[in-house]
Amino acid sequence: MDKILVHGGSKLSGSVTISGSKNSALPILAATLLTREECVIHRVPDLSDIHYMLQILASLGAEVERASGTVTVRADAVKTVAPYEIVRKMRASVCVLGPLLGREKEATVSLPGGCVIGDRPIDLHLKGFEALGAQHRIDAGNVKVFASELRGGTMNLRGKLGPTVLGTDNVMMAAVLAEGTTVIESAAAEPEVVDLANFLIAMGAKIEGAGTRRIIIEGVKELHGAEHSVIPDRIEAGTFLVAGAIAGTEVTLRRVNPEHVVAVTDKLVEAGYRIESQRDRMTIHGNGDPKALQLMTEPFPGFPTDMQAQFCALLSRTSGNSTITETIFPQRFMHVSELKRMGANIQLEGATAIIAGVERLSGAPVMASDLRASAALVLAGLQAEGVTEINRVYHIDRGYELIDEKLNALGAHIERVKA
Ligand code: EPU
Repeated sequence: MDKILVHGGSKLSGSVTISGSKNSALPILAATLLTREECVIHRVPDLSDIHYMLQILASLGAEVERASGTVTVRADAVKTVAPYEIVRKMRASVCVLGPLLGREKEATVSLPGGCVIGDRPIDLHLKGFEALGAQHRIDAGNVKVFASELRGGTMNLRGKLGPTVLGTDNVMMAAVLAEGTTVIESAAAEPEVVDLANFLIAMGAKIEGAGTRRIIIEGVKELHGAEHSVIPDRIEAGTFLVAGAIAGTEVTLRRVNPEHVVAVTDKLVEAGYRIESQRDRMTIHGNGDPKALQLMTEPFPGFPTDMQAQFCALLSRTSGNSTITETIFPQRFMHVSELKRMGANIQLEGATAIIAGVERLSGAPVMASDLRASAALVLAGLQAEGVTEINRVYHIDRGYELIDEKLNALGAHIERVKA
């Protein structure tokens, strides 16, 4: 298994181009199943999660071609059972349910289990499908959703931990081909939901309100092919802003949407970092004396759970006492024990991390447990003395395109050791 060695202490400067968003590209690729016609998707990042999605599309019968960042899909005829062998590798596989249900009136995928960031149920997805007239059956580890016909319905997709991103996506993808009007109340408003809605609209769907808590969909008879460019990855952007905060003199992000990262930049500015934003570029300046922060993860436009681990790394070496409360995945703190092995002083009280900034972190062998936790370990390694050896780096390759090469181009010293 590959390892990453981060040699701490280098200063970062220069510019980095942000890739297309993983969490936009995954449901958008699934949505290509809604039409027989060709769809062309640009700025698809080269990540293992994307490869799994392309494999699922191919196994469902779609013709899939990839040429650098552009993926072309033609799903002339589709099967409705997604194979366990690929599905089990990625929870986001669940987002083929919506388009297959919309097009074929039935779909089967294996039920996602829990994962390291916590329990990952799909009850809200199923509740939404039910409101469209579908039923479901769970059998031998698979969930099958089916309907004789899909008709518009009104539903509230708020769960006890807030709205659901992929649940909103899934229901939207089924409802575009349902008869009549669907209203999703308490919809997720993340930019990735808006990007998917824009792609569906380009395919001929009638959707209003994406990006707000109420989405209204008027069903159409069929969708056609479309071409679309995926939005920049706001979590990759946030991660590079934190890298700039931790180790940068001056780091510029290109091809970023500053409006998508406001919750992150607000906190960095509150800590004392200077950030300049233009239309699609942002620059963060280092600060020798940042301030501690109190923050809480929330659905968009609040502070993203996908940036929580990276801020744990940043605040580990920020003097004073910081707190981070995780409200979306209350158990998403696997990175804490690894950061503590590097010398961080973090106590967990329920879903709150209490971080007392320390003067130094020291490199150590550490284990990546999930995607954002591994990004946090890379960030901790940048500011640690000595070498941080990160094992199980396949986690980072699921969601960051060439993170080691991009950081090295900014002046970091990171080696990838092939097993
Ligand atoms: N939830 C339910 N029932 C459901 C669905 C969700 O109770 O049917 C709960 C979840 O357990 C969680 C909360 O609702 O407590 C929010 O989960 P959500 O459904 O929004 O998460 P998701 O759609 O499965 C996406 C991203 C995650 C990101 C979350 C929250 C993709 C592929 N994944 O997951 O990204 O953390 O939204 O913003 O879009 C990552 O990129 O590292 C990642 C984990």
